[in-house]
Amino acid sequence: MIHMENISKVYANGTEALRKINLDIERGEFVFIVGPSGAGKSTFLKLIMREEKANFGNITVNGYNLMKIRKRKVPYLRRTMGIVFQDFRLIEKMNVYDNIAFAMRVIGESEKTIKKRVPYMLDMVGLSGTEKRRPSELSGGEQQRVSLARALVNKPEIIVADEPTGNIDPERSFDIMKLLSDINKNGTTVLIVTHDHDLVQQFGGRIIRIEDGVVTEDKKIYTQFNPSPAPDAAGENDASVSNDNAPDSDSSASADTNSEKTEEKES
Ligand SMILES: Nc1ncnc2c1ncn2[C@@H]1O[C@H](COP(=O)(O)OP(=O)(O)OP(=O)(O)O)[C@@H](O)[C@H]1O
Ligand SMILES: [Mg+2]
Repeated sequence: MIHMENISKVYANGTEALRKINLDIERGEFVFIVGPSGAGKSTFLKLIMREEKANFGNITVNGYNLMKIRKRKVPYLRRTMGIVFQDFRLIEKMNVYDNIAFAMRVIGESEKTIKKRVPYMLDMVGLSGTEKRRPSELSGGEQQRVSLARALVNKPEIIVADEPTGNIDPERSFDIMKLLSDINKNGTTVLIVTHDHDLVQQFGGRIIRIEDGVVTEDKKIYTQFNPSPAPDAAGENDASVSNDNAPDSDSSASADTNSEKTEEKES
């Protein structure tokens, strides 16, 4: 569902945020992205949601070739994902209800469905009763939970969350992570950037460490939330460290393989 081949990102000012990233994330995985501040974690997510474009390599997400996708098609890519931004990005002109409802209106859901689903989502993140408030009338943690409700409301194929518990107390953080874990159990792929070492150890799953723009570790931690696969289903990489960033292979040769699929996807 996510395929990266020799992906590099250099920002306009020359900062090399990611270097030659090679990895695949399959449907249904529960993935933590960890690493120090400035390592490239948010950049990694921004490439996946096509908020930034990679300078080199190949990247395919949910069937879209992100090196070739046209600007006007990016919204269709985004509809396959629920995004929790590090800075929330709620709309201050709208109250809590409308911030969440807006995501549903954009995809043409009926007001009847919206009326049922928005309160349900607010309840799920523990914010029932805040419908009429503006984002600025909420605490940071509350805003973060509104942004989570908005990300989940359209039942996306993949959740991409940049520090979804960054402003939330430990107890509530556990609840949020449990919510994401439950959603993952229903088949949704979940990608979470976090600095919270304890939550990572507690929930486990696949842990990808990014340091200074490269993947330095890619392992699995098995827990009650992410149990090890049945013995006969094994054979995947378990706790092994793999950093298979291939040395300079020519990636342009395969660059075209997905372009047609991309153009077809929603036409
Ligand atoms: N728009 C930008 N223009 C130039 N440089 C940028 C831009 N965004 C990020 N960077 C730089 O790219 C590098 C990676 O940044 P990124 O935001 O991906 O880090 P991060 O791992 O998410 O850090 P944090 O944990 O603090 O959120 C940093 O050196 C950062 O300063
Ligand atoms: Mg970041």
